[in-house]
Amino acid sequence: MDTIIEVEGLKKSYKKRRSKEFVHAVDDVSFTVNRGEILGLLGPNGAGKTTTIKMICGLLIPDSGSIVINGINSRRKRLDALRHISAVLEGNRNLYWRLTVKENLDYFAGNRGLSRKEVRVQIEDLLKKFSLKEKQHELVNRLSRGMQQKLAIAVAMLADSEVILLDEPTLGLDVETGYEVRDLLRSIVKDDNRTIIISSHDMDVVQDLCNRTVIIDKGKIVTNDKVENLLRLFQVRAYTITLGGLLSDQQHQCLLQKFPQLEYTTDTIQSTLEIDLVKSEEIYDLFDVLKMENTFIESIDRSTINFEQIFMKIVKEGAEGCTG
Ligand SMILES: Nc1ncnc2c1ncn2[C@@H]1O[C@H](COP(=O)(O)OP(=O)(O)OP(=O)(O)O)[C@@H](O)[C@H]1O
Ligand SMILES: [Mg+2]
Repeated sequence: MDTIIEVEGLKKSYKKRRSKEFVHAVDDVSFTVNRGEILGLLGPNGAGKTTTIKMICGLLIPDSGSIVINGINSRRKRLDALRHISAVLEGNRNLYWRLTVKENLDYFAGNRGLSRKEVRVQIEDLLKKFSLKEKQHELVNRLSRGMQQKLAIAVAMLADSEVILLDEPTLGLDVETGYEVRDLLRSIVKDDNRTIIISSHDMDVVQDLCNRTVIIDKGKIVTNDKVENLLRLFQVRAYTITLGGLLSDQQHQCLLQKFPQLEYTTDTIQSTLEIDLVKSEEIYDLFDVLKMENTFIESIDRSTINFEQIFMKIVKEGAEGCTG
């Protein structure tokens, strides 16, 4: 696979206010991004996502570590490396608020040295693609948040860089605009051959859009895996088992010892076990306990688990046993 970004041993600390202590915001982070993928950078508040994104797009200088963009080391050849990257940060700071939609697009296109005709065609296309044509003469500070977000992404597209970094691209958008932005991002990758790194707290967006996720917590990577692998891995381990009778006290105690997280519910003729295995082979231990008294199994179902639940588990459990 063709690597477009390589981050190696990245570190950044901030000095705490009125203290001699430091916050290790990003603490030895390494990962790669493949050309043409949408990588999700996830983690709880304060995990170090924005700090990582700002270092990759050159807004912050790392304390140590290296960032190689399209084969170019960003410390040695900063401008050359940064040419391949555009970023849309929180708060849409890449827009001029007192200019109109079209003036913003004209301005940023002007930076690229294209002919007037080429610029006109590209801007028309973007206005259409991002459904901003009707608002082209509106000042940015009079646009809704969703429209500003779309314009910010359109401006990032104009730079024609292969990689686009987006910090929380769907934050505060209504459901419809959120879906529109998702479709736009998908088409940017598919039709325009771009690579996207997004940070997001919206796990539905991540499950829907990202090929792979890097999850960080307290400045360190806890998982780096494909979304489908994580879904499969966690799906395999969560079961709901319906029994055609009740467990004896001895069986119940035995199971609780092995699986402290076990949930056991009963009615008069049936009982249900909900279990979340650490390893899929553990299901045989459970069968052994049921076999002790020939307890009849009526059904075994895999519980459905969404990416949000997986994210919570990974962050809670830490790295152990989570990466595939
Ligand atoms: N300019 C700064 N000065 C001091 N500390 C900072 C600064 N910026 C970030 N931090 C600290 O660094 C850590 C990582 O912050 P960062 O903004 O990268 O997290 P994040 O993952 O983007 O969080 P969120 O999900 O809330 O956006 C936090 O503990 C934060 O308080
Ligand atoms: Mg952030």
